[in-house]
Amino acid sequence: MAAAASSSRLLFYFIVLVIVSHGVLQIEASHVFYGNLESLQPTNPNPTYRTSYHFQPPKNWMNDPNGPMIYKGIYHFFYQYNPYGADWGNIVWAHSTSLDLVNWKSHPPAIKPSVRGDINGCWSGSATLLPGNKPAMLYTGIDPQNRQVQNLAMPSNLSDPYLVKWSKFPSNPVMEPTITNQINSSSFRDPTTAWLGHDGRWRTVVGSKRNRRGLAILYRSKDFVRWTEARHPLHSAKDTGMWECPDFYPVSTRTRTGLDTSRVGRGIKHVMKLSLDDTKHDYYTVGTYDLAKDKYVPDKGSVDNDSGLRYDYGKFYASKTFYDSAKKRRILWGWINESLPLHDYVRQGWSGLQAIPRAVWLDKSGKQLVQWPISEIEKLRRSRVGLPAGKVLKAGSKLEVSSLPTAAQADVEVSFEVQELGNKAETMDPSWTNPQLLCSRKDASAKGGLGPFGLKVLASKNDSMEYTAIFFRIYKLGLTNKYKVLMCSDQSRSSLNTSPDKTTYGAFVEVDPAREKLSLRTLIDHSIVESFGGGGKACITARVYPTLAIGEAAHLYVFNHGNAHVRISSFSAWSMKKAHLN
Ligand code: FRU
Repeated sequence: MAAAASSSRLLFYFIVLVIVSHGVLQIEASHVFYGNLESLQPTNPNPTYRTSYHFQPPKNWMNDPNGPMIYKGIYHFFYQYNPYGADWGNIVWAHSTSLDLVNWKSHPPAIKPSVRGDINGCWSGSATLLPGNKPAMLYTGIDPQNRQVQNLAMPSNLSDPYLVKWSKFPSNPVMEPTITNQINSSSFRDPTTAWLGHDGRWRTVVGSKRNRRGLAILYRSKDFVRWTEARHPLHSAKDTGMWECPDFYPVSTRTRTGLDTSRVGRGIKHVMKLSLDDTKHDYYTVGTYDLAKDKYVPDKGSVDNDSGLRYDYGKFYASKTFYDSAKKRRILWGWINESLPLHDYVRQGWSGLQAIPRAVWLDKSGKQLVQWPISEIEKLRRSRVGLPAGKVLKAGSKLEVSSLPTAAQADVEVSFEVQELGNKAETMDPSWTNPQLLCSRKDASAKGGLGPFGLKVLASKNDSMEYTAIFFRIYKLGLTNKYKVLMCSDQSRSSLNTSPDKTTYGAFVEVDPAREKLSLRTLIDHSIVESFGGGGKACITARVYPTLAIGEAAHLYVFNHGNAHVRISSFSAWSMKKAHLN
């Protein structure tokens, strides 16, 4: 027994050692705080890779989006933030507001550790607007025993539209692990926006796990203060591990209009999004909310695990939506985590970004979501550069978009038309089910039949040393007349520096190239490349650290390395103005 215990202890220490020595991912996964690293930090963060229009604080560490909402015409955004360093730790809810979701003003942290229920950290949570337009935040606190508990906070002064001061409910926590409820106190966090049932009771779910089964534990309350755990979780799925930051909301089957979180009824489906602690992926299913059983049931064919649909196939985690009642849309926020290793981002003095907020709605097929950057971001566009409609991009050619003033800070929209589908598309091997693997095997330099064609961004002169390539390949499915479109974001040549993670990402795009044009939109912002394929049916975000293609020295190309010509049916690129970011 003792020998077994000591060998398992050894194994444990070994695993910890491996984890620590390999760096970045595990910090986030296990919430380990290395306070000593803060001494490595510069007083002023290195400006080279800072963004111009993607949300970020002036310095330090940022992770999950928290409690986004609109209150009295002002957008509020809170986020997990370390006020003292660029590594994870000392977590508070930082707070910014905006009139347009583009320009942001920062306020003092709204919620920070101060009471028993959150003295060791104020972790993620969500906003609910109670009747009478009263915001209420449910958030996870870390208590003196390091247990995860759920707390309630409300604005101290409802007549202040900036909601600068917040008060904690005196009887916090409002949900906690106890001996009777058998909830694991280190896996109990991130309450969702609550929704109101026809029985007059509020509901929220909290992310958890039991063994390897991911759980969305359901709580109900009549008064938002006394919460009771339901007998069954709203949803659970085997072998998915800890569910962080669940998000549960209705979508219309008929229009792109967003819906308030409490809406149910005809013409409505539901989406359940889960952030998997194990893989740092946000996946979602589309399904039905069974009101009688108070259970969520994913549609048949909606894959309910890490191989399921993802908002984004690159770096995008712990996301959260909210209903924007002013413009009747549902908006998605997501944290773009680092590609640099821990010591490098600490030295850089900042870490983490937010993706451009995206409108999200259900696709016509009813099977997946579609996402598109909020239209407000377009007001930053200037100096449009176009290409003549119908321009042919010959097999094996590339074209520089040279007249763009700032290729490192741009918004590019292109759409392609392919002819010769039948004879030039390569045949898809049925075993190629993993798009990311396929993209990493066939990077942008691997010549193909139909494709690769797309954009090379943040490229050095003549794209000879550095570039990030976002491109499509079209495959034929067996002997049918059907095609599969692959979208890749290839970071393998994104930097001469060897330390950033350069994983290549991939996704299949549900577009029929025989009938539709193939569109790509890419938001380029110095160290971020955020791409939307097929009008927002597949999104891939990458973090890159070029060494040559920085600032004025960054170039933009359209390329075609396939052996069939491709027509550019439309092309526009804009330089982006700098937004006011905090
Ligand atoms: C997700 C997460 C949440 C937690 C928060 C802590 O990135 O791990 O589960 O509440 O970050 O900062």
